[in-house]
Parts: sequence; C-alpha cells; structure tokens
Amino acid sequence: MEYVVYEQKGAVGIVTISREKALNALNSTVLEELNATFDAINLDEVRCVILTGAGQKSFVAGADIGEMSSLTKAEGEAFGKKGNDVFLKIENFPIPVICAINGFALGGGCEIAMSCDIRICSDNAVFGQPEVGLGITPGFGGTQRLARLVGPGMAKQMIYTARNIKADEAYRIGLVNAVYTQEELLPAAEKMAAGIAKNAPIAVRNCKKAINEGLALPMDKAVEVEEKLFGDCFETEDQKYGMAFFLDKNKEKVKEPFKNC
Ligand code: CAA
Repeated sequence: MEYVVYEQKGAVGIVTISREKALNALNSTVLEELNATFDAINLDEVRCVILTGAGQKSFVAGADIGEMSSLTKAEGEAFGKKGNDVFLKIENFPIPVICAINGFALGGGCEIAMSCDIRICSDNAVFGQPEVGLGITPGFGGTQRLARLVGPGMAKQMIYTARNIKADEAYRIGLVNAVYTQEELLPAAEKMAAGIAKNAPIAVRNCKKAINEGLALPMDKAVEVEEKLFGDCFETEDQKYGMAFFLDKNKEKVKEPFKNC
C-alpha cells in the first residue's frame, strides 16, 4: 500500500490515510487502497475500527482536485461512484468505525468522516463542503449524509456558502461527538474502541445494522427490523453468558471476554 497504513491492536483495527504531502487528499489510488484495506480486516479478531489521517494538520483535505480538474461528465460521475462505493462499504461495515478527525476534513474528508459510525475530532479540526467554490457539488455523499446528520437547514447553509466551520461549531451542530487536543485524540478513540470491543460482538453488529437499516424506514417497519435483530441475539453463547453473569449474585466473579458466538 502506498497511501493507507493498517495496524491491528488487539481487537481494534486502525486505518490511517497517509498521503501527507497532499494533506491526505483522496485520489483514485487512495480510494482503491481504502477499499482493499477494509476488505482485508480480520473480522474474526477485530471488533471496532478507527479511521484517521497521518500528521498533525489534516485528516483529509478532500477529493484530489488535480485528478478531478480534467474529468469529463462521464468520468466525473464514475469518480463519484468510486468514492461512494468505498464510503458505503465503510457505512455498512459489519463492525463500528470511529473516525478520529485530526485536522482538515474538507469536501471528501468531511464526507468520509460522515460515512463512519462515530466522529470525534482534535481542536484544530476544520470541516466544510467547499465544492461549490470549485464549480461542483459534493460528490462522495455530502449532499445526503450532511442533511441527515445536522438537518437540512444547516447542511444547505454549509453546502451553499462553502463556509468552513471549526471544531467547536462542528460539536455544537452535532457533526462530531467530542473534541480533544491533538495528543488526546487517538488515545480517546482507542479507549472508545476498546469499550465497544469488550461488549458482545454479535449484539454490537446487530445494533449497527438495526440503526442503519431502520433509519431508512418508517417506524412501524423499522421496529420490525429491530425485532428480528433482537431475536437473533438469543440462544447465542454471548447472550446466555451475559445474562447468566448478571443473574449470578456472586460479586467475586470476574466477567470473561465475550466469545463472538
Ligand atoms: N486535492 C489535491 N491536492 C490538495 C488538496 C486536494 N483536495 N488539498 C491540499 N492539497 C495539496 C496542495 O495542492 C499542496 O500541494 P503542493 O505542496 O504540491 O502545492 C499541499 O496539499 C498542501 O496544501 P496547501 O499548500 O494548500 O496548504 P495550506 O495550509 O495553505 O491550505 C487547505 C490547506 C486550506 C486545506 C488547502 O489545501 C485547501 O483548501 N485544500 C483544498 C480543500 C478542498 O477544496 N477540498 C474539497 C475538494 S473537492 C471534493 O472533495 C469533491 C467531493 O466531494 C468528492
């Protein structure tokens, strides 16, 4: 891999976009490498993924403007699909993905962050959808996910004005869940990932599926999705163990790791 680094720390996988000279901008190669990296994650061992960018300045400064500058209409559409396919893979990845945003998250950078389950950022992070200033629309899901995350009014304001916002405003509008110093960001992401990884894996996966699938449905259908995934947890070893542990009043007993079965 030229631009993506993958590291597994116990049950946590860390994906780092590493193209620092171009502020980790997403060209076709980065997108292809991200796709291959997520495909190769060992889901028998890894229970939560962290996505971040290399360096202290930028998470991802967008799609690669040099590569896009000479595209035809058809090539532009294909480039949008290339990004969308990878981001959908992240959004629908069976286990949670935490985005640790360590600086600029502009255009495609904001869009890839929004395809993750949870976003936390450093205090120097900057968010925005600057595309209309470049003569294009957001093309990797920004027109869709931003409106769903922060509401259509705020999304339209950010997209039409192309104005960047800082970490505190991103926190205020609900685009990120928390803001940390640069030094604290990755440890905080790892702590959150470890907290997720220690819970019953089948249940965590089913929660992700239920939330994602349910959001696209009317409530009566959405709760049916939940019922099915709730039911699926029963008779698993983890459900039997988790409930038996609660019901066992022996306070000396130490909880064992869940087995993912
Ligand atoms: N594409 C390609 N190269 C980029 C880039 C991008 N999106 N963002 C930064 N770079 C490159 C710069 O060209 C520069 O390269 P050179 O050293 O070879 O000149 C290098 O990264 C460092 O950037 P700057 O010198 O510009 O750094 P700065 O500190 O002065 O500014 C910045 C930082 C404000 C983030 C500025 O780089 C910037 O505005 N970048 C573009 C942000 C942007 O518009 N992103 C949206 C892209 S469109 C998109 O993403 C479409 C979509 O939805 C799919």
